[in-house]
Amino acid sequence: MPSPNRGRRTLTFFTGNRGKLTEVRHRLAPLGWNVVQGHRTLVEPQADDLETVARAKLEQVPRAPGPCLVEDAGLFIHALNGFPGVYSAYALRTLGPATVARLVPRGDRTATFRAVMGLREGAGGRPKLILGEVHGKITSAPRGSGGFGFDPIFVPTGEHRTFAEMTPEEKDGLSHRGKALDGLVRALRD
Ligand code: IMP
Repeated sequence: MPSPNRGRRTLTFFTGNRGKLTEVRHRLAPLGWNVVQGHRTLVEPQADDLETVARAKLEQVPRAPGPCLVEDAGLFIHALNGFPGVYSAYALRTLGPATVARLVPRGDRTATFRAVMGLREGAGGRPKLILGEVHGKITSAPRGSGGFGFDPIFVPTGEHRTFAEMTPEEKDGLSHRGKALDGLVRALRD
């Protein structure tokens, strides 16, 4: 029986986050990419920006022949001077989305979601960083059951629904990761 992956190229995504893995697979599968999960514990340095973290993660990834991907993302709430930002995973684990939403003052609920992907193509490939961001607002309480992480409290600009109230395709069309994926697709084509 022919393998379903025959003729497909493989990209290894080093992430422990199932939500991210699903979104990257969803976008790349129709373009002929088989996205496999890389299993390696990557140490994240204490840094103020996602780029530094993504670069450090990429350096720890084994030098495999095919393309390797890492990603670091964060929710930057403007009235909280960018918190939780690079500490988003910690804030989600310790507080959860409802408590983070309650920390945001009523007067300014604006926020930016950012993703930085790190790509290395082949063992000797040079690292490429690809950025995606989306502006929006934090709701007063979580809404919706789709997506993951902070999706239930983030409404992108021009929308009234949270990411968790959208289909995966709608989120992909607007999100920080969707925009970074546009850049990733271009980089993989070059
Ligand atoms: P990290 O890049 O894995 O450190 O992710 C930071 C935190 O932000 C994690 O807790 C993620 O679940 C959350 N996060 C990253 N991307 C998204 C997203 O697209 N929607 C909602 N939460 C996200």
